[in-house]
Amino acid sequence: MKVTISVIKADVGSLPGHSIAPKELLDVAREALDVAKEDHTLIDYYVTRCGDDIELIMTHNKGVGHKDIHGLAFRTFESITKIAQDLKLYGAGQDLLSHAFSGNLKGMGPGVAEMEFEERKSEPIVICMADKTEPAAYNLPLFKIFADPFNTAGLTIDPTMIDGFKFEVYDVKDQKKITLETPQEMYELLALIGTTGRYEIKSISKKNGEPAAAVSAEKLNMMAGRYVGKDDPVCIIRGQSGFPAVGEITEGFAFPHLVAGWMRGSHSGPLMPVGQKDANPTRFDGPPRVIALGFQLANGRLVGPVDLFADISFDLTREKAMEITDYMRRHGPFEPHRLPEGELEYTSLPHVIEKMKDRFKKI
Ligand code: F6R
Ligand code: MG
Ligand code: MG
Repeated sequence: MKVTISVIKADVGSLPGHSIAPKELLDVAREALDVAKEDHTLIDYYVTRCGDDIELIMTHNKGVGHKDIHGLAFRTFESITKIAQDLKLYGAGQDLLSHAFSGNLKGMGPGVAEMEFEERKSEPIVICMADKTEPAAYNLPLFKIFADPFNTAGLTIDPTMIDGFKFEVYDVKDQKKITLETPQEMYELLALIGTTGRYEIKSISKKNGEPAAAVSAEKLNMMAGRYVGKDDPVCIIRGQSGFPAVGEITEGFAFPHLVAGWMRGSHSGPLMPVGQKDANPTRFDGPPRVIALGFQLANGRLVGPVDLFADISFDLTREKAMEITDYMRRHGPFEPHRLPEGELEYTSLPHVIEKMKDRFKKI
């Protein structure tokens, strides 16, 4: 049976400030998706949040980019916005850039990761959800998971993986895309995706085209032409039997690498893997975090989840992340904690410089 998994997310209000999407909002989402499950639009769903972002994890058999599913997500975020407005929550409706839905969410604000595939005899799925960062935050872990044998043992010892994978990469500045194959083009791939401000891994597949991973790689700030918040990204990864094992997927996040985002979308900080109960960016609106929920699909039904980063084996990663947090914070307004001018997505710095422009004299 062909099944589609759609993870659609948006920040439509939180408390206090940009911290947490409260239960009242998640309840609205659950009610809406319950109705959609009753009328068979959806096979199943799971609603969760990471920081101030609400994630709708949905299964169905309508394929990717389907107007019924995108419309359902859009209307759901609109209903949540109404409650967020009643409660005067912060940033109510912030990710709904337009209120005229025309069949697809592309360019409208919410982040979308989707894939359609033939459900295997057993289908493990990991959904990663991050807050206070950008889609390219997944570049490093996805590279490790799908192309680095020091992370993923299967790349060298599993005959079903030794062929490698295909990476679809978006150039968000020139709005172009390219597909590169590993291990053959590993260096070319790294040359691109190391520039996280420009190149984002959008999807990964096996050499035969079978989908393996999908990221929500829409640049919200660029589409809007002004800063409206970072695109806190989600990612779907299939596991086992020809794909990386679940433990090879989680291992990709064991190093808390530096990502762009954090306070005002303008700082570099460690990506800290946490359990659901700790998905609360409270220090300097961060540090950036990522949660991972593991499911098994059963004819589209979402069995689970297991809160994968809630385990003690990630304690050292978190400790290291908190040490890095302290270290980076002590740079205050200096780079490389504050992002370089070209990558600043918050509008205040250009305003400050504009104010002083007449006072600059030639040296
Ligand atoms: C970053 C983020 C927050 C806000 C910050 C200022 O993605 O959401 O760090 O940028 O709290 O928010 P405003 O400008 O809404 O007061
Ligand atoms: Mg917010
Ligand atoms: Mg957020």
